[in-house]
Formats: sequence, C-alpha cells, structure tokens
Amino acid sequence: MNVEVERLSTGIPEFDRLLAGGIPRGFLVAVTGEPGTGKTIFCIHFIDCGVKKGDVCIYVTTEESRDSILRQAAQFGIDFQAAVKKKKLLIIDALMGLEDQWSLRSLEVEELLDKIIEAKKALGYGKARLVIDSLSAFWLDRPAMARRYSYFVKKVLSKWDFTILAVSQYAITTSDAFGFGVEHIADGIIRFRRYVRNGVLRRYVIVEKMRQTPHSLTMHEITALDGRGLVILGAAKERREDVALPAKVMSKLAKAKAEREKILPGREVPEK
Ligand SMILES: Nc1ncnc2c1ncn2[C@@H]1O[C@H](COP(=O)(O)OP(=O)(O)O)[C@@H](O)[C@H]1O
Ligand SMILES: [Mg+2]
Repeated sequence: MNVEVERLSTGIPEFDRLLAGGIPRGFLVAVTGEPGTGKTIFCIHFIDCGVKKGDVCIYVTTEESRDSILRQAAQFGIDFQAAVKKKKLLIIDALMGLEDQWSLRSLEVEELLDKIIEAKKALGYGKARLVIDSLSAFWLDRPAMARRYSYFVKKVLSKWDFTILAVSQYAITTSDAFGFGVEHIADGIIRFRRYVRNGVLRRYVIVEKMRQTPHSLTMHEITALDGRGLVILGAAKERREDVALPAKVMSKLAKAKAEREKILPGREVPEK
C-alpha cells in the first residue's frame, strides 16, 4: 500500500534497509538483549544521526555514567561533547551521584518523565529523538509494575513528538512471572543476541516487530568496530556457511599453527 510513513534513520544505513528505511516517527521501540550485545552502541548511532539532522536529542543513561557514554561515542568518531555544548543533545544521568540539573536523584518513573519534558523544553520544540538506556531499570525492584509503568511512559511521552528507543534488559526470573513490560506496549522490538561459536563471541540482531513496516525477518550478524561503531556483517544463516571451512582445511591450519608454535623462541626449554 502506498501510504507514506515518515521514517527516522537509525544512523546505520544497512540497518535502515532492514527497517524499510527507518523507524516510523513517533514510535516507541523496545531495544532488548543480553548485556554486551550492542544495545547502547545502537542507541548512540540513533542519537548521533538525530544530532546531524537537527532533531532535538535526549539520552537517558542509567547503566553507565554520562562520561562513559561520551567516551564510548568518541571511540566511534562521534563527538557528543560538541553536540551537548551546542545544545543539540542532553544526556540525563541517573544515580551517578551527580547533583547537576540533568541528573536524576532516584529511579522513579515520575521523576524520569518530568526530567525528559524539562529537557525537551530546554532544547526547543520540534521533532525529537529520545533514548532511555535502560527503561527497565526504573522498575527493577518492582517487576510487577513493569506493564503499568510502560503504559504510563508511553502515554505521557506520546504528546511530545518523540521517537523513542527504550532499552529493556531482560531477566529470565522476572520476565517469566510478569512479562517484559516495555515489549508489550512497544510499536517495535529490536532484539540483540549473542552466541559463542567455535570459541568466538558472535553478535546478532533481529527485528521482531515494527508496525507499519515490511521489515526484514532475518537475523543478521553484527560487530562493533573501533573508530566506526556497529556494522552489519550479513544474514546470519549465509554467514555461518560462508565462514565454515572444510574439515581438511581446518586440520591443515591447526598443524601449521602447531609447527609455528614449536619454533617460537622460549617455547622449548633446554634441559640442563
Ligand atoms: N572501541 C570499540 N571498538 C570495538 N568494539 C567495542 C568498542 N567499544 C565497545 N565495543 C564492544 O561493544 C561491547 C559493548 O556493547 P554495548 O552496546 O555497550 O552493550 P549493551 O548491549 O550491554 O549495551 C563491548 O563488549 C565491546 O565488545
Ligand atoms: Mg548498555
């Protein structure tokens, strides 16, 4: 159907392709996955893209400090410090002991929403990007409240022209009993995963849901590159077949490696 949906780029062109162009404006998208799978890096790209396009940008960080986010972005050549100085970006920091205007004193949903709205007013009206990394942190000690809080957050923020990435850390123990919360009310779900294959950590991403979007249903392998950030390597299935070498080749490689190690100085201790 030829119905125009305005989409916001994620800042990663190959990722936009999985989303038929990007995330529809006004959506609340749950970004979920285990620790270390790339959720924060993905959020950093989304905000960087917004800064470049002149959108109002707000990044709430609960899992690491404001400085840590600045340093992580800088490693990918993204200058968040300059964006903050130019008042294009506000980083709201939670519970890091800071006492400035843009720090939260508690992990209360009401305080979070007040602060986000205060930040939006400070930065100016118009199209806005918001990252809450993570939203689930606000009900860690009250998992039964996850759904109710999620609804509340979505309802309040819907009036403010935000397109939102809400990171949701899942804990099997709590999700079994109460559901994940954010995922149930989200317009989209982007899931990051990790597996160890042949002793190597591999990361993947899959778009599980994106309303109004003919999105990819294929899991893609991703990696983080210093100086660049998140990169999509290719569809996960093809990729595994691509990299798997025939057994004969593998054993030759192993033999060659053993030979090399034998002649390394210091390896063989002469008996005296
Ligand atoms: N400068 C860098 N170069 C390459 N990889 C990096 C760099 N910085 C972080 N990473 C990778 O990103 C991972 C953290 O990803 P992150 O998005 O913070 O995970 P999470 O899903 O927990 O938010 C690290 O474990 C590391 O593998
Ligand atoms: Mg993170």
